Amino acid sequence: MIPCPAEIVEKRSETRGIYTFRLRVKDEGKRAAFRFRPGQFNMVYAFGVGEVPISIASDPDDLDGLDHTVRIVGNVTGVLERLKVGNVVGLRGPYGSWWPLEESRGRDVIVITGGLGCAPVVSVISYVVRRRGSFGALKILHGIKAPTDLVYRRQFQAWAKHPNTEVHLTTDQPDRRWRHHTGVVTTLLGRVTLDPANSVAMMCGPEGMMRAAARELLERGVPTESLYVSIERNMKCAVGLCGHCQLGSEYVCKTGPVFRFDRIRHWFEHPGV
Ligand SMILES: Cc1cc2nc3c(=O)[nH]c(=O)nc-3n(C[C@H](O)[C@H](O)[C@H](O)COP(=O)(O)OP(=O)(O)OC[C@H]3O[C@@H](n4cnc5c(N)ncnc54)[C@H](O)[C@@H]3O)c2cc1C
Ligand code: FES
Repeated sequence: MIPCPAEIVEKRSETRGIYTFRLRVKDEGKRAAFRFRPGQFNMVYAFGVGEVPISIASDPDDLDGLDHTVRIVGNVTGVLERLKVGNVVGLRGPYGSWWPLEESRGRDVIVITGGLGCAPVVSVISYVVRRRGSFGALKILHGIKAPTDLVYRRQFQAWAKHPNTEVHLTTDQPDRRWRHHTGVVTTLLGRVTLDPANSVAMMCGPEGMMRAAARELLERGVPTESLYVSIERNMKCAVGLCGHCQLGSEYVCKTGPVFRFDRIRHWFEHPGV
């Protein structure tokens, strides 16, 4: 439960109000021992201010540093925004459940994300492209409100170049320079061919978006047990003690944030729970 010091070794501005911090655990032994699975998160501590859960957005095989992409929204993230390369934060983790990658070997992976919901699945994409022959098709569908909201611009371009990999981007409010699709992310589903029985879908973004995408995938014949979502709730302890993150009978910090859709469908379909 005690955060370990981690140095900011890189701070990248992704777009207005969103930064990727590359953190390196200062203690060499702890750094070498740190392992995470795609989908897990860390508690990032701005000393004297507070801790926030942030997904680990780097390649799980990269042991040199841990990327965290942060949207600046309030007290703690506001302080993180002011930190510079060389400053130190506290880090504890990794926490939570992970995407079912081992179980998905040999199958098509459909990644559907909205807004900053792409952060918890970047590590999935890195994992799959590193083991390209072990998976079927990789289809990345990502939606944003406006083109200026697009993060990981270069990564999307790079992923599209991998074999058997499709990247589809869409925005609600295209500008003159936008070269991709227009509309909400679920409209992209109509553009991709699916092999329903052999696909697994991993979704993260606004809950309304995930509900709509799940509905459409089910209609297209993808079995409910092949749908996974990652969700956010307020968190304090991240280890199942305080109850802040409760969703029905689940503690999102322990049995989530990644859930098989049918496990939380009941709660998930009641907005506001
Ligand atoms: C498992 C998990 C993974 C997460 N991964 C990421 C990530 O990779 N990157 C990231 O930027 N955030 C992520 N979040 C959300 C992040 O933890 C919150 O944005 C953060 O806790 C806000 O803290 P704050 O002190 O800056 O804001 P606060 O001072 O607590 O809140 C200020 C204002 O922001 C609003 N707010 C709080 N949380 C959010 C939110 N999630 N979205 C929009 N508005 C919010 C509040 O309603 C309030 O109005 C994740 C959350 C969870 C549970
Ligand atoms: S954050 Fe405390 S129980 Fe989940």
